[in-house]
Amino acid sequence: MEAGEQSKSLLDVEKIWRWLISMNARRTESIAIMGGGTILDTGAFAASCFQRGIRFSLIPTTLLAMVDASIGGKNGVNFNLYKNYIGNITQPEYIITDYSFLKSLPKEEMMNGWMEMAKHALIADPKLWLQLSSHQQIPSIEDLTPLIEQSAGIKKNIVAIDPSEMGLRATLNFGHTLGHALESLAITRKESLSHGFAVGLGMIFSLHWSANKLKQTSTEKREEPLIKAASLIKSWLDFHPSLSWKKWMNTVKYQDAWNYMLKDKKNSQSEVLEIQLKAIGESIWAVPMPFNEFESAWNDAFVDPMQKNN
Ligand SMILES: NC(=O)c1ccc[n+]([C@@H]2O[C@H](COP(=O)([O-])OP(=O)(O)OC[C@H]3O[C@@H](n4cnc5c(N)ncnc54)[C@H](O)[C@@H]3O)[C@@H](O)[C@H]2O)c1
Ligand SMILES: [Zn+2]
Repeated sequence: MEAGEQSKSLLDVEKIWRWLISMNARRTESIAIMGGGTILDTGAFAASCFQRGIRFSLIPTTLLAMVDASIGGKNGVNFNLYKNYIGNITQPEYIITDYSFLKSLPKEEMMNGWMEMAKHALIADPKLWLQLSSHQQIPSIEDLTPLIEQSAGIKKNIVAIDPSEMGLRATLNFGHTLGHALESLAITRKESLSHGFAVGLGMIFSLHWSANKLKQTSTEKREEPLIKAASLIKSWLDFHPSLSWKKWMNTVKYQDAWNYMLKDKKNSQSEVLEIQLKAIGESIWAVPMPFNEFESAWNDAFVDPMQKNN
């Protein structure tokens, strides 16, 4: 299969089913699905429905798939332009992670995975955040491997507690509320925006919003580590191979981003539900964010002080 969102389709699922039939596959057998997140999501969905479910294992080949997409059992395809609209939750038999796949992974793809690793640390593990934040750039594969294990472990634990996303699992959407809105906006403008780039910007925003909330309730400067974390993510984004986040964000009207956030299926007409950090490694979910809070967090996160004064 070709990798990419366009392959996450029912048409491609049918292709897999036809192939399985041509191979005389039976329910007693098990299939191995190898690739990035798009291949794993599609392959696992095909396997989970084939003859009411054939066993499968996953072999992730991108950093994002190693720390995120291969874990948790969610599978599925895009439908009618809606992302991940058809699917189910079925766990693989095994996940086999071979770090040597990363040797050929392009820089932009490394950035996508690195941002999800940052997300895991920020919502659940201050020690891992401390380790990640000692790197000014994405580290070498050797330095990366122990961090990948820890990061994957965080997702595994969260999913074990809340497999069907009744609550806690929602914290894995940290940075994705604005991130998804920016991705949708880019699609409308026919631009390509990588997921890690959008999630990085989303986390910068959510960190500032969380910091503002802490400032309102405490005078102990508990918000400072969050603001520091946002600056570090900005400096990681500075290493993006092809896009300047500052230039790109200057082209985005914050009202447009807000409107996309409202369209998200988990939000109401006037309020967005957001994941808030109480501290690094401590997150709560479904916190209402009214427009005025959005506006001031956006200003703090993205409008440079010189511009604000003018
Ligand atoms: N199921 C879940 O819980 C879950 C979680 C997060 C993301 N996802 C899904 O994962 C998908 C994104 O996954 P992705 O970022 O891996 O994208 P992808 O599958 O499109 O892979 C990204 C690119 O990397 C290339 N590639 C893959 N392995 C390579 C290697 N070892 N060396 C060089 N190039 C390689 C692919 O050909 C592709 O061009 C999205 O569709 C997203 O919805 C699912
Ligand atoms: Zn993501």
